[in-house]
Amino acid sequence: LPGQVPVICIDGPSASGKGSLAAAVAAQLGYAVLDSGALYRIAGYAACARGIPLHADHAPELAQVVQEMDVAFVGETILLGGEDISLKIRSDTGSRNASLISAIPAVRDALLQFQRDRARLPGLVADGRDMGTVVFPQAPLKVFLTASAEKRAERRYKQLISQGLSANMTTLREELHARDLRDSTRAVAPLQPAVDALSLDNSDIGIEAAARQVLSWWEERRPFS
Ligand code: DC
Repeated sequence: LPGQVPVICIDGPSASGKGSLAAAVAAQLGYAVLDSGALYRIAGYAACARGIPLHADHAPELAQVVQEMDVAFVGETILLGGEDISLKIRSDTGSRNASLISAIPAVRDALLQFQRDRARLPGLVADGRDMGTVVFPQAPLKVFLTASAEKRAERRYKQLISQGLSANMTTLREELHARDLRDSTRAVAPLQPAVDALSLDNSDIGIEAAARQVLSWWEERRPFS
């Protein structure tokens, strides 16, 4: 039962380091990871590939595309209908499209059960914007991860460059700002800390210190050992 599976939620703005932190914590505990942002990125890609505008006027078609997506996660690789789209969905366009499609309620609904089904024993670390508020509201540990705008832009810059993609700091800063604004002001499941979330500022601590903090919170809160 999903309610019986230990889930750790890590929510926060773009490029706050959620993905690395989720992976580090999951590796320590032997849990699986749910990268919910990847699902919205895949959804945006799938809709664009079909030529459907990422606009609420097209909500029914968009929700249908999302329901029919043939997605496979093979290690770090993401396949859509057999095509490797791992890198494509990380581009600036991929980020923007994910943010646009994620504001459409029917699309969020279509992804809800898929996300909940990822909760399997021995446990799950879920990262995104609404893991603690909407998808796993019963989770015993909810972390809200923040980082300064400058650090987040830097992090995204390094990430893109290391993937062999091009990047520009000024554009990145502007796009992160626009995306944060859209993600936190949308009507449905906006980015906001759950009432029982613990805040962690990731601006000046390393990944190991951040993981240690989350693991120590988990020691106090995990429902069973
Ligand atoms: O975490 P990310 O940057 O890969 O997420 C991409 C976009 O997907 C983000 O701009 C907002 C959306 N998203 C969401 O609405 N809900 C989530 N749980 C995760 C991501």
